[in-house]
Amino acid sequence: MKRKVTKAIFPVAGLGTRFLPATKSVPKEIMTLVDRPLIQYAIDECRAAGIEEFIFVTSRGKSALEDYFDSSPVLEAELQRKGKDKLLKVLEETYVDSGGIAYIRQQKALGLGHAVWCARRLIGDEPFAVVLPDDVIAAEKPCLQQMVEAYAETGGNMVAAMEVPQDKTSAYGVLDVRQDMGNLVSVKGMVEKPKAEDAPSNLAVIGRYILTPKIMDNLNQGKQGAGGEIQLTDAIADEIDGEGVFGLRFRGQRFDCGSKAGFLQATVAFGLARDDLRDEFSQYLREMTAIDSAAQ
Ligand code: UTP
Repeated sequence: MKRKVTKAIFPVAGLGTRFLPATKSVPKEIMTLVDRPLIQYAIDECRAAGIEEFIFVTSRGKSALEDYFDSSPVLEAELQRKGKDKLLKVLEETYVDSGGIAYIRQQKALGLGHAVWCARRLIGDEPFAVVLPDDVIAAEKPCLQQMVEAYAETGGNMVAAMEVPQDKTSAYGVLDVRQDMGNLVSVKGMVEKPKAEDAPSNLAVIGRYILTPKIMDNLNQGKQGAGGEIQLTDAIADEIDGEGVFGLRFRGQRFDCGSKAGFLQATVAFGLARDDLRDEFSQYLREMTAIDSAAQ
């Protein structure tokens, strides 16, 4: 059964240890690429894909995230008084309709699969998207929108996939491909974080999924997988011979903003993509690169 995808789960209950000490008091998802927090990029991508309900799986210390989507009457009144219409518009983009956003807690960080399962009652009997906001994707057509369009053709479960160097497979869930149809592949196996020599391909899963409610049933079993965590990958792999699993080679560039190097790369890419910053910033980068090569 294919249905419209209108709900997205954002599992954001992780500790974000790679960004300590910043993440001691700032949720990773609020960290800023140029002038917008990571979560805003994810929300915009979801809206473009037709998502109407946003479900956050959070943990202790994430209240800044809830505040971010709240209205800000004092700030608004001040901007209105000063006639700052452009900034008021920027603020508007951060608001979500009342009732369109829900927060639930994952009491223990038992893994990504467990975090998704925490949202089961809010999902009910509908297909849903899962979006990891620390994967930021620069694309002409937003990645989740590409996936929703492909899903309308295939049904089943769909993961966003990209080629990675073979020696990096141990950082990802990796697809074993049954049939390669170009942009789309059908999947006959999924392995979480395989060693390079054991990886069935170099097609890695990144943080965008469209899943059927059956995945919640599979997660119900609470099976521990790689690293002793309840893995989303395992619950999806259980559907390979059931409702089916597809990978979409999306068009776009993915930045791993959960890592420091990835975050810095994204900052440069998104900074250079901005009309108001490009000239000054690229001039600076050229100077820095020249100094760096002279020093070597
Ligand atoms: P990561 O593996 O990036 O972990 O989780 P993390 O805690 O965010 O960051 P590090 O590795 O300590 O720096 C991938 C995604 O899954 C969520 C995280 O919030 C992140 O969005 N997650 C992970 C949960 O919500 N709950 C979990 O139990 C585990």
